[in-house]
Amino acid sequence: MNYTTKIANQVFHHLFINAAGVYCQTVEELEQIQNAPCAGAVITKSATAKERSGNSEPRYFENSVEHNTINSMGLPNLGIDYYLNYVLKHSLKLPTLFSIVGLSQSEIIDNLKKLQASGFSGLTELNLSCPNVSGKPQIAYDFAATREILDNVFAFYSKPLGVKLPPYFDIAHFDQIAAILNDYPLAYVNAINSVGNGLVIDPETDTVVIKPKDGFGGLGGKQIKATALANVRALRQRLHPQIKIIATGGVINGRDVYDHLLCGADLISIGSQLEIEGPTVFARLEKELEEIFADKGITDLRQVRGKLKLIA
Ligand code: SIN
Repeated sequence: MNYTTKIANQVFHHLFINAAGVYCQTVEELEQIQNAPCAGAVITKSATAKERSGNSEPRYFENSVEHNTINSMGLPNLGIDYYLNYVLKHSLKLPTLFSIVGLSQSEIIDNLKKLQASGFSGLTELNLSCPNVSGKPQIAYDFAATREILDNVFAFYSKPLGVKLPPYFDIAHFDQIAAILNDYPLAYVNAINSVGNGLVIDPETDTVVIKPKDGFGGLGGKQIKATALANVRALRQRLHPQIKIIATGGVINGRDVYDHLLCGADLISIGSQLEIEGPTVFARLEKELEEIFADKGITDLRQVRGKLKLIA
């Protein structure tokens, strides 16, 4: 199958990318994704202006049998200069996306000014959806703040930019966020970040499984597939066609990839299952997808992408 997919100035030869936050905090982890069979791209950990150690531990819990996770990492990262050094000084095998975050609007703007002034020319992903920093609501749930930030960003930022969105759960919210995003020259949206502020309890001890925020954290894995599919589908129906979609959420097997393609995904990012299984996950997913294509006689991605059927 020819998987060649274009987003802005970047060409991808496989569909898969790590989700920002997973296997991307250090150069060693990033290089594991660069060299993973069937990886199509790499994204760096969402960078703040300065290095952050993140929330207290334990801050990540996985149920590898049920393929579910909860995390409250709190944006641990090595700072924007570390990741800029990586993208500018290393020879990168794959298109490498740069994830940016900020704990205030001015930090976001300063980080993007640094990227604008740098030699980085790939895709930038602005994370508007981290649920794990105490006292800092997920920006993209505040539609006025989202518009204000995008106004200020696009006043100077001229490199291809995407945004990472939180999940939405109401048709009115799909309409409202899409109407805002359509007003800007976005290269893509990434839907969805983890489902924020879930709570998982250990039945043996009756305790929460992560420490930060008294156990509240972002849910990932199989449990969020339906929400992720709905967000990809709803956004694809509403966004201008030139705004591409990276689908994130609930991808455990080839069928999950296929379903995201049906909903209109251009690329697929893997978070929880990458953490659980490691970077060999991409080759397994591609093989399982090829088997589905062979069974259905599909020879071109255009036969699947956005081709979800409805009940007449
Ligand atoms: C985190 O570092 O808390 C996870 C990243 C995110 O959810 O944006």
